[in-house]
Amino acid sequence: MEPALRFVNVSKDYLADGARVSALNGVNLEIGPGQFAALVGRSGCGKSTLLNLAGAMDFPTHGEVFIGGEPTSALDDARLTALRRRRIGFIFQSFQLLGTLSVAENVETPLLLAGERNARARALAALRWVDLENLAGRMPHQLSGGQMQRVAIARALVHEPSLILADEPTGNLDSATGNLVIGVLRRVAAERGVTVVMATHSAESAAAADLTVRLRDGRVEETAAR
Ligand SMILES: Nc1ncnc2c1ncn2[C@@H]1O[C@H](COP(=O)(O)OP(=O)(O)OP(=O)(O)O)[C@@H](O)[C@H]1O
Ligand SMILES: [Mg+2]
Repeated sequence: MEPALRFVNVSKDYLADGARVSALNGVNLEIGPGQFAALVGRSGCGKSTLLNLAGAMDFPTHGEVFIGGEPTSALDDARLTALRRRRIGFIFQSFQLLGTLSVAENVETPLLLAGERNARARALAALRWVDLENLAGRMPHQLSGGQMQRVAIARALVHEPSLILADEPTGNLDSATGNLVIGVLRRVAAERGVTVVMATHSAESAAAADLTVRLRDGRVEETAAR
């Protein structure tokens, strides 16, 4: 079967103050459909850079990133926008909910942006899936951190993506709340067949994944299946 995500000899350089920074250096990686993968390694090793490339938010300096078998370098702007809107969901450490919108409005926003129908009903179904339908009318500031992150997961799921990219999703949560959020991500992969790639500094969070990818100085140092 075609991997959900494939990196072939991917390097990424940044320019900072006239100096070249090598953030990724010759990364080869395959993550299968429905796998839950944890990206681990020291601060600055390239985890967020890898997630940005995996979401076609940025492009390699060398090599190729394939999403669902499609080389991202070959996509024009319209197809890139469609890919990001329909096939990929993002989750961040800081939740990034819109404070002036209710929980339900936050979750339906990706559907409205994509001009899709039945946005409210689909948002409520996604909220039911993370067990928060009863909080649909609340504002974000009325939620706990764990609830905010579950709303963010519902928002990432609402357009039924094949790939979810999570950058330190438990970074702002205590360990018990973090475990709850990780449990939801596990279910996203196991029950919905969504490929989940998560960067994390938490050994406890990483232990829940099917696959651990350890980066060091922009290279894959080790890949371990559970
Ligand atoms: N836009 C940028 N311009 C210049 N350098 C960058 C940029 N983004 C990242 N870097 C550099 O690339 C390297 C990898 O950064 P990255 O953010 O991917 O690390 P990370 O593993 O996510 O770290 P952390 O655990 O702290 O989030 C670092 O040396 C960083 O300073
Ligand atoms: Mg990072």
